[in-house]
Amino acid sequence: MMPKKVLITGGAGFIGSALSAQLQEAGHEVFVLDDLSFGKRALAGVPDARFFQVDIRHRDAVQQVMDATRPNWVLHLAAVHFIPYCNQHPAEAADININGTINVLDTAGSKGSLEQVFVASTAAVYPVAEGALGEEHPLGPMDIYGTTKLATEKIASEFHLRSRIPVVVGRFFNAFGPNETNPHLFPEIQRQVLAGARTLKLGNLDPKRDYIHTADMGRAMGALLDKALQGFEVFNIGRGIEYSVREVVEAFQRQLGEELRIEVDPARVRKVERPHLLADVRKLKQATGWEPQWSIDAGVATLLQGR
Ligand SMILES: NC(=O)c1ccc[n+]([C@@H]2O[C@H](COP(=O)([O-])OP(=O)(O)OC[C@H]3O[C@@H](n4cnc5c(N)ncnc54)[C@H](O)[C@@H]3O)[C@@H](O)[C@H]2O)c1
Repeated sequence: MMPKKVLITGGAGFIGSALSAQLQEAGHEVFVLDDLSFGKRALAGVPDARFFQVDIRHRDAVQQVMDATRPNWVLHLAAVHFIPYCNQHPAEAADININGTINVLDTAGSKGSLEQVFVASTAAVYPVAEGALGEEHPLGPMDIYGTTKLATEKIASEFHLRSRIPVVVGRFFNAFGPNETNPHLFPEIQRQVLAGARTLKLGNLDPKRDYIHTADMGRAMGALLDKALQGFEVFNIGRGIEYSVREVVEAFQRQLGEELRIEVDPARVRKVERPHLLADVRKLKQATGWEPQWSIDAGVATLLQGR
């Protein structure tokens, strides 16, 4: 694969930073655009000359980044996505996730250099359902976050029809790994355990999620772009295995070698929560030959080392 000029929006975030590392390892020249609202400068993993602290709502500033970098690939991950935050700030979530996406795609498309676009979506675009969800499953987001991300997908599709530039949408399932920026389940358990707690205070214990390590996600995105697919394509990016909260705690227990008890903290119980979320990842595997390399236990072991 010829080295590419790659711009990652949200590249100072949890998943974007793993992606930045992955694409640089593959030999690409990576630029990061991030307003650092949730991300951290150091996580971007690029020198100052290739880092742009810009808000994707500011179209002129985004255009300047495209002018300065002339990327071949744009991977658009910048978004607000912590569900409680989106519920509390719905207009801001819509502005960033919808208008911000329009700005990124339009300004990227104004450069003759652009060959491919990757847009991050989410499993939250699917309705509550039993069994593994394939990409053809009818969509039905149940919260403001999923609704804004469904709009992100539609904007990406419209951009492709208008520009003919190939677009891949990745529907991310639940990510886990180092440097998580939002207080999701894994960093919460990690924080409590590393602080010495052996009785964990958690919310709902029964919901099951398809957890995938960020390093595996980075490799999946790289593999999809290496294929240089034409057209507009949607791929689930998950692992194809679901774990309940209890099962995640059991993985921490195994890696710690100590018993962990759980206390349900009513303040942490979400009123609206889907019971299952499981990916059918056959399309991704068939298109790329990708296979996940990180088990839950291997990922938890590094989290317990404080990484
Ligand atoms: N973490 C998950 O489990 C998960 C699941 C499904 C989808 N996603 C999607 O993956 C992408 C990355 O999520 P993440 O988990 O790495 O979260 P994150 O919050 O760590 O990353 C998002 C990054 O975007 C940046 N950002 C936010 N608003 C911005 C703005 N207005 N302008 C410029 N930058 C802005 C943040 O500073 C952050 O670095 C998002 O699009 C998210 O919707 C994540």
